[in-house]
Amino acid sequence: MVIKNLTLHNFRNYADETFFFDEGLNVLSGRNAQGKTNCAEAVFYLCTGSSLRIRHDRQLIRRGEDCAMIRAEAKTKFGSVTLGATVFENRRELFVNGNRVTRTVDFLGNMNSVFFSPGELRLILDGPDERRRFLNLSISQTSRDYCTALLRYQRILDQRNNLLKEHDLTLVRETLPVWDEQLAKYASRIILRRREYLKELSALAEEAHSFLTDGGEKLSLSADRVYLGEEGEIAERLLSELSASYERDLRLGFTSVGPHRDDVRIAIDGADARGYCSQGQARTAALSMKLAEVEIFTRLAGEAPVLILDDVMSELDLPRRKKLLSRVGGLQCIVTCTHAPRVLYGTACNKINIREGKIVP
Ligand SMILES: Nc1ncnc2c1ncn2[C@@H]1O[C@H](COP(=O)(O)OP(=O)(O)O)[C@@H](O)[C@H]1O
Ligand SMILES: [Mg+2]
Repeated sequence: MVIKNLTLHNFRNYADETFFFDEGLNVLSGRNAQGKTNCAEAVFYLCTGSSLRIRHDRQLIRRGEDCAMIRAEAKTKFGSVTLGATVFENRRELFVNGNRVTRTVDFLGNMNSVFFSPGELRLILDGPDERRRFLNLSISQTSRDYCTALLRYQRILDQRNNLLKEHDLTLVRETLPVWDEQLAKYASRIILRRREYLKELSALAEEAHSFLTDGGEKLSLSADRVYLGEEGEIAERLLSELSASYERDLRLGFTSVGPHRDDVRIAIDGADARGYCSQGQARTAALSMKLAEVEIFTRLAGEAPVLILDDVMSELDLPRRKKLLSRVGGLQCIVTCTHAPRVLYGTACNKINIREGKIVP
């Protein structure tokens, strides 16, 4: 898949701008705070329907304006596709080929991207939230079923949690089994799909990590909870765990078991990365996971996603930078940096300079 162009209207610090991208390497350069990440974010938004940095879409709207508009045209194996998003203060409208789509799942998967930035170290160093977010986003981009199950699960979970805060215990006892049944159904789908995904991801990430470190380090990824069996068995196990944790959940006021609590263990040379690895190791590990994500997308979707590397080149040492560039050779990449020559070492690319939310020649 190749993104051909991107138009931003009142998006972040852009008033009106159109970017034209090449099939290979595209380098956005400019000083700090000029709009490089904003551009990358817009691409990501069209791929995932969500922003990287914020919870509320309204922050995407250029200050003082009423709505933001993003539009991109991509060439996919199915032909040409145009995606659009108009973001208002409290709602948004999504478009595929000019037609309004009301469900996010119909928007996702039309354009795929993998995003990597220095913030991605959180994937390795922070708590489980970041790793679940990673799994959820990357699996959702290629699996409609997963995305649907996740949205339903989240909705039921919210309702169950509200119920747990209810004072009428008779009501709670009567209603809870109904929610639990539903919750276990969607949870088992999520768990099963994550299990399959993680199996593929771990093998590919280990290989990428070994490549980037010249065989010097061994990365390993594994689920922190192992669920055996098929969907039905997983659902049953969850159902009994949910009922077993009923008293505790009531005390806590939230649901303490389920895929919203699961984690991925990441180890480098056998030691837990969260506790022991250096920043450099964490960066390489996160990058390896992203490169693995690219490969999985390519296999599942039958075409490669766009790889967005936001501000990461300058943080890698020269050998790793060169290795990375050689590795991503066949992909469409959008790379942002403050100093292009130092990153590229003469590699051919489409260079775009950005200043104050405008492309400058
Ligand atoms: N909603 C917004 N309206 C106007 N300007 C914004 C908005 N959101 C961010 N900005 C501006 O965008 C700039 C940051 O752009 P960014 O793409 O992160 O920079 P960089 O080029 O360093 O990646 C900042 O100057 C910030 O004030
Ligand atoms: Mg930036």
